[in-house]
Amino acid sequence: MRNKITVVGAGQVGTTVAQLTAYKNLGNVVITDIVEGLPQGKALDLQESGCLQVFDGIITGTNDYKDTADSDIVVITAGIPRKPGQDRSDLIATNAKIVKSVTEQVMEHSKNPLIIVVSNPLDAMVYVAKRVSGLPSERIMGMAGVLDAARFRSFVSLELDCSLVDVDAMVLGGHGDSMVPMPRYTTVSGVPITDLMNKEQIDRLVDRTRKGGAEIVGLLKTGSAFLAPGASVVKMIEAILQDKKRILPCTVHLSGEYGWKDIFFGVPVKLGHAGIEEIIELKLLPEEMEQLNRSATDVQSQIKDVDNLLDG
Ligand code: APR
Repeated sequence: MRNKITVVGAGQVGTTVAQLTAYKNLGNVVITDIVEGLPQGKALDLQESGCLQVFDGIITGTNDYKDTADSDIVVITAGIPRKPGQDRSDLIATNAKIVKSVTEQVMEHSKNPLIIVVSNPLDAMVYVAKRVSGLPSERIMGMAGVLDAARFRSFVSLELDCSLVDVDAMVLGGHGDSMVPMPRYTTVSGVPITDLMNKEQIDRLVDRTRKGGAEIVGLLKTGSAFLAPGASVVKMIEAILQDKKRILPCTVHLSGEYGWKDIFFGVPVKLGHAGIEEIIELKLLPEEMEQLNRSATDVQSQIKDVDNLLDG
């Protein structure tokens, strides 16, 4: 039987996720949105590319959550993106309401899906989906670290004029300005970039990574990044459905790892068929831990804000 992947939100990110999921033959795709006609139009257009891109999946567009029944994976991209000058946290009240209502409707029709949240502010929105769905921690996660690491990898390869394929990167923490790119764990063919670049270069690339989302918002003027975010989600879907046991940074529930509890935070995890199969704890230096704690404090305060919004 084919896997069933539901994408909630037929906007820029949702469409990219649906398209890449179909092109990679990962299963049947359901696209849903609050706007009538939009998911149906996108689904039909994508289905009609099937014979050209050669995929077998059935693509359904719908406004009715009944069509999402028994999904294996649900990707939540519903929400508003930021505008130039806005911080991800400016979206919190609107997107918390949207993610709450979407999660409730998803859970009415799928008993035990794996949920990947993309809506921003990411760490707080994964928390909303967890609180509303009651899913076990290994089945709910946010996409941020794969994207932030992809940005860091791109900047390293451009700076060193070397193949992207050889560059690996690790970015920890919340998906905001206090995220923690990790130069010691960022390598080119196994060689840490701390051996390949000077401090000025590394600081510049770290700063560009932290502001990677805002750089694109500033250029696009309307809407935020969607191609790399969409591709990052599909990397996670592939790891799960094909039980790849990949080690990727994802936003997951911490229960004591890295000294933090009851927050959703970006850390390296093993992704396989069961979802989050292991949380990997890196041995951090005191100054790295300090940065991570700062980021966790930011996330914790956002989670308090959404708790108040949901309770009030
Ligand atoms: N239910 C379903 N879909 C909804 C709802 C809802 N309650 N509210 C909004 N949507 C849909 C919109 O109709 C729109 O089609 O979500 C879609 C969002 O698409 P875009 O505006 O194109 O935004 P996008 O760039 O895809 O970003 C979506 O991901 O990266 C984050 O910050 C970004 O939070 C934003 C999200």
